[in-house]
Amino acid sequence: MTAATPSPVVGRKPITLHRLREMHAQGEKITMLTAYDASFARLMDECGVDCLLVGDSLGMVVQGQPSTVPVTLEHVIYHTQAVVRGATTSWVVSDLPFGSYQESREQALRSSAALMQAGAHMVKLEGGGWTAETVHFLTERGIPVCAHLGLTPQSVHALGGYRIQGRDQAGADTLRRHATELVQAGAAMLVIELTPSDVAAQVQLDNPGVMTIGIGAGARTAGQVLVGQDMLRITRGRLPRFVRDFMAEGGGVEEAIRRYVLAVKDGSFPDEAVHGY
Ligand code: KIV
Repeated sequence: MTAATPSPVVGRKPITLHRLREMHAQGEKITMLTAYDASFARLMDECGVDCLLVGDSLGMVVQGQPSTVPVTLEHVIYHTQAVVRGATTSWVVSDLPFGSYQESREQALRSSAALMQAGAHMVKLEGGGWTAETVHFLTERGIPVCAHLGLTPQSVHALGGYRIQGRDQAGADTLRRHATELVQAGAAMLVIELTPSDVAAQVQLDNPGVMTIGIGAGARTAGQVLVGQDMLRITRGRLPRFVRDFMAEGGGVEEAIRRYVLAVKDGSFPDEAVHGY
């Protein structure tokens, strides 16, 4: 371990929503990585990652699918069960996959309950506008919700590809309006993916209480998330501009994860000039 690597999180208490809110209020950045299995979950937890996301990106990362669209609720349940067996203190967020919440608020509740019963602490759903009513329905029933705006990969075919969202004024205004509606509906956390840094920063300023978690959304969000396999450079081929290869400085997987935690906490990742839009 180098001097720049944080020490292990010995005896860390389980991360709760209350604790995450406290961190946010105190200006401490929140760290999140995707995890799909018990081994990575355990390692990430031990390295002090605050939140683990059982993302539907598992479709691409684990299953080799071309998008997240083929992922089913059963797949996310299976991976959530594995992650919670490995992680003992991180806050676990599980994705509601495509087709598991769009039909009705009742369908969203049934799918969310299945994820919570599998061990998730919070569910995440994509999109703005119509989703606010669903978020309200879920949060009223005791389910913590993370909303997801900007690039929403489940809508990749409707969006015409993996493009930056909120670039023009109308797009930025819509994103800001959707964010505020979702926060008013009860969303405690908001993933913002692939948007100009100024737009994500404005969403955070509009809604100071919500924990914005950026991915390709600049440095002024409350926290950051990356796909674990991307930041460990397990993913082959060209990576998006917002990903930093945390293995590049040498050392092993554990050191790279610790380096990520440290870099998010001290604000050195993301670097606007390198990773921002
Ligand atoms: O599924 C996922 O991994 C995600 C992140 C990209 C935020 O939603």
